[in-house]
Amino acid sequence: FTPDVAHGEQVFAQCQTCHVLEEGVNRVGPSLAGIVGRAAGTVDGFNYTPANANSGITWTPEKMFQYLENPARVVPGTKMAFAGLPEGQDRADVIAYLQGAGAQ
Ligand code: HEM
Repeated sequence: FTPDVAHGEQVFAQCQTCHVLEEGVNRVGPSLAGIVGRAAGTVDGFNYTPANANSGITWTPEKMFQYLENPARVVPGTKMAFAGLPEGQDRADVIAYLQGAGAQ
């Protein structure tokens, strides 16, 4: 997939119910500032499930690509109540957007 960051920003609207990109701002879900490349379960002040906290995952683009298709399959027991993004292009685009946001 050739990533389209502008489209990724539009896809991110589906995440914004629960996540923001400002560092240190946790909502229903943890802040996603700098999430790409980060170890799972390490955002300060967020109350994770053990499933997420102990997953051993590092959020590489490849891992996030798998996760966002079906979060509960990759992290069984997660409380992220999101069915996932079935389209690979949508996943690649939102990951590219999150990477850019982390680099700012
Ligand atoms: C956790 C991304 C949509 C609620 C996470 C994590 C990522 C992520 C990467 C793991 C964070 C970490 O380990 O620090 C996304 C993206 C979304 C999305 C990219 C949109 C495509 C949503 C939605 C909700 C939500 C819509 C609420 C309905 C949560 C919660 C957690 C979480 C509660 C913590 C899970 C746990 O502790 O088990 N999300 N998310 N997310 N997300 Fe999302």
